[in-house]
Amino acid sequence: MQIVPDNWLAGVFGRKVFRVILEDTDGDLKPLDTVFPDHRAPGENGAFYYTKIPTDRVAPVQTLASCGFYVVDVNVTLSCESSSAATPLKTARSFEIRAAIGTDFDQAISIAGSCFRFSRFHLDPAIPVSLANRIKEEWIRSYSRKTRGDELWVALQDGKVVGFLAEIRSAQNNKRIRIIDLIGVDPHFQKRGVGRSLVKFFVNDKSQCDLFQVGTQIANVASLRLYESLGFSATTSQYVLHNT
Ligand SMILES: CC(C)(COP(=O)(O)OP(=O)(O)OC[C@H]1O[C@@H](n2cnc3c(N)ncnc32)[C@H](O)[C@@H]1OP(=O)(O)O)[C@@H](O)C(=O)NCCC(=O)NCCS
Repeated sequence: MQIVPDNWLAGVFGRKVFRVILEDTDGDLKPLDTVFPDHRAPGENGAFYYTKIPTDRVAPVQTLASCGFYVVDVNVTLSCESSSAATPLKTARSFEIRAAIGTDFDQAISIAGSCFRFSRFHLDPAIPVSLANRIKEEWIRSYSRKTRGDELWVALQDGKVVGFLAEIRSAQNNKRIRIIDLIGVDPHFQKRGVGRSLVKFFVNDKSQCDLFQVGTQIANVASLRLYESLGFSATTSQYVLHNT
């Protein structure tokens, strides 16, 4: 087991944040019982801890609960082979989609700060909504600063940004992966096809990509339906636990 600082999140929280990483086997459960309380007390009393545990491993969740952790979310990863990604069809309504430039970033940051309801931060009753919103704003701000991700795509209507899709490119097991890091639509423009247009646009570029991937929350029915309707299917899931 490792307890590693999350400096980016700590900067937004304004206090120390640590991620607890368990090994692949149950052999490290004992250390969790002893190491975690030692880590927390007395120096890290005000710290925020989080961890993600595969949903087929319930024993660590029990141990974590005994240390004060609580489940805030089940994160679902969905993927789609690029060869079977939905071929875009004309939608009734089309939106201009392009890589973000200039003031697009500020508009996307503003949407990020107002559209989320099901992130692990929004679902945690111990985290104020204002802080949960700020985390999403800072997430997208890091795209404008080029400190995270590879591209921020925006959907526009009448020149105004109405949605965004943040992309990370990665590689695993010899597969080139394009990941939807975050997607959000202005609450005033939701359910009008913006999210669908963004994901269709995204999966339309299959060049240098073997797999599309996205993570979402089990409570986020809208996004699950959106991804499934475009050919994505669930591959893995994780309990997400917090300790404040
Ligand atoms: C998820 C989200 C991006 C969808 O964007 P959207 O523009 O509202 O969605 P669309 O109008 O393109 O709808 C596409 C499909 O999504 C599903 N969907 C969208 N909103 C839904 C809702 N409120 N309830 C159930 N399904 C919904 C439907 O399957 C829909 O297809 P349909 O219209 O043929 O039924 C948007 O709701 C959003 O920004 N949510 C907050 C941010 C978020 O949770 N992001 C995803 C997690 S990382």
